[in-house]
Amino acid sequence: MEDDQFLEHVMDLVRDHLGGNEPNGDYIEPSSLSKISDLGLPLEGRGLESLIIDIEHFLRYSVRTDSPGFMNPLWGGFNVAAFSGEVIATLVNNSMYTYELSPYATLVEQALIRRMCEIVGFSEGNGTLTTGGSNGNMIGMMCARYRIDPLGQQRGYDVKNLVCFVSEESHYSVLMAANVLGIGFDNVIKVACDDDGRMRCDKLIEEIERCKKNNQIPFCVVATAATTVRGAFDPIKEISRLCEENEIWLHVDAAWGGSCLFSTKYRGLMDGIELADSVCWDAHKMMGVPLVCSAFLIKNPEILRKICAHGDSAHYLFHQDAENIDLGRISLQCGRRNDALKLFLSWRDKGDAGWARLVESYMGLADYLEDMIKKESSLEMMSSRDWTNVCLRFTSEGIDHNDVNKQIRDRIIKSGNYMISQSNIGDNVILRPVIANPAINIKHLNGLVEEIVRTGHDVIRGIPPNH
Ligand SMILES: Cc1ncc(COP(=O)(O)O)c(C=O)c1O
Repeated sequence: MEDDQFLEHVMDLVRDHLGGNEPNGDYIEPSSLSKISDLGLPLEGRGLESLIIDIEHFLRYSVRTDSPGFMNPLWGGFNVAAFSGEVIATLVNNSMYTYELSPYATLVEQALIRRMCEIVGFSEGNGTLTTGGSNGNMIGMMCARYRIDPLGQQRGYDVKNLVCFVSEESHYSVLMAANVLGIGFDNVIKVACDDDGRMRCDKLIEEIERCKKNNQIPFCVVATAATTVRGAFDPIKEISRLCEENEIWLHVDAAWGGSCLFSTKYRGLMDGIELADSVCWDAHKMMGVPLVCSAFLIKNPEILRKICAHGDSAHYLFHQDAENIDLGRISLQCGRRNDALKLFLSWRDKGDAGWARLVESYMGLADYLEDMIKKESSLEMMSSRDWTNVCLRFTSEGIDHNDVNKQIRDRIIKSGNYMISQSNIGDNVILRPVIANPAINIKHLNGLVEEIVRTGHDVIRGIPPNH
């Protein structure tokens, strides 16, 4: 088969795949899937034609994240502008380290970073696209560590006494970063949250003072805007005041909530963001750009340049004449894919106003879902709501709530119509649909509520699943 013909086939498969109604229509247990799959790598190549069957099989058993029933993680949907950006970026296969190798892509990425810095309020800021919010959180902590001990980069860090503070509902990536940076899990202090899942500033100051008394050095607070389970926004303005008074770096993990900044209605959720030292913001979450697309933004760009410095050891890549334009000097990666084009094309397609409408429509749908839950006697909200995370459970007198809700979620996932996540708030198992998918409308939310209620009643009556 010729390349052209093959590509046409692939595009037909792409078109057929789009618009699937069930996110998990062909749910299959892992052991059965491996039995019916041909995963052998041949000694002699089979040619392009055989790949069509491989691709069909792959698509058949992939979750349809573009389906309106997909409400599980913090992203979803199909974005045609971004899809074309992804394909074109792969076509040209640039690497982002030097201007020489990625001239236009370098300008595109810097245009995005400049705009995101403006939106955050870092007028002199800079940044880089990274492999995700987890990586952005780690870079923020690296910058914080550098500020407290710039010579450590050369000498090696003695980090035994460094402590970092996060809310008890923060994302696990902060622990991962502490591991990578040698800070240690014990030195990530989990600050208590209020009833709505936001970091308590009175507890933060207590923890800072306790650490200082123990001769530990508070070097970083990671505030979360919005948390993974409840979508709670930590009070950035108050936290920044404590950070300033105690000379602590403030990094804001806005991987999930950063998009509120587009909306005049919801921007207040991140009031004070311009007071932070660094921020991460995932365009691959609410903005619906395909994974991965995530920005790390910093108020003082010199610190980012310093932590990414590698002297003149990469003389085969970097030359002084391009020192200020080569993005490899402000990134931890060497070879780096172009994640910028897909975000750039989506932004050109939608504009700031389009992003604001997207955020506001998602919030409208989440409000609608919350109202329905409050009206339905066999459902209850399990948390207040700031963002589009809707935390609920099925309820009935005398049941083991955790067990019943786990069974409900298991049946729903296997029935294929909806994918929602199961999490814990305190000791309670909760169901957590999230609105971050442009395919969702009111009809799908009605269907979801109906399916949870019906499944809950089936579980408590002992009626077996019908799949
Ligand atoms: C609050 C928060 N921060 C960070 C992350 C990690 O982001 P990523 O998956 O892009 O590494 C997540 C992921 O869900 C998150 O919810």
